[in-house]
Amino acid sequence: MKPLLRLGVLGSGKGSNFLAIHEAIQAGKLHAEIRLVVSDREDAGIVEHARRLGYPIWVLPLSRYKTRLEPELEGELVERLREAGCEWVILAGYMRVVKAPLLEAYRGRILNIHPSLLPDFKGLEAWKQALAAGVKKTGCTVHYVDESLDGGEILAQREVPVWPDDTPEELHRRIQEAEHILYPEVLEKLWQKEHGLTLD
Ligand code: GRF
Repeated sequence: MKPLLRLGVLGSGKGSNFLAIHEAIQAGKLHAEIRLVVSDREDAGIVEHARRLGYPIWVLPLSRYKTRLEPELEGELVERLREAGCEWVILAGYMRVVKAPLLEAYRGRILNIHPSLLPDFKGLEAWKQALAAGVKKTGCTVHYVDESLDGGEILAQREVPVWPDDTPEELHRRIQEAEHILYPEVLEKLWQKEHGLTLD
């Protein structure tokens, strides 16, 4: 048996992408294991799901900042991820900007999922940006994380049509459905690539 991808999953929200990854692993569609779940919010859905499913969890202590972590705290996060044996850092609705300690420790091994077809609609509530711009299609993107905002190298995208009568909620829901397919697929491709099993 070839070694599994060892994941640390970071999230601040509902945790639906975390669940999709968990379910793909359970279904035998993804050769990975979630070694640690990290959240900056004790009350986040991702923490509740991870607890129910018995995953190791670390809830970050309160930070002075809202959109990032102090370097010492991010350094501790790196330590925890390493101790748990995580090789890949999977951002799944993690609402803090990743800075040098984590970027340097896991360079080229941090992924994020964003609810638009990047480079369009970077930043918050990308589905609302797409509606406001009047585009006919949007989607989601899995990309490497670097110093830029939602600007790292793109790994894969999945398109979602925008219907004329779409509400923000409905469009977001369909983008999330696409995310739940795309993220596990991309991770499985990474596993295949690590073991020289890719055809493309
Ligand atoms: C996703 O829509 C993702 O695109 C964005 O944050 C959201 C996280 O949702 N980065 P969930 O917590 O995985 O349900």
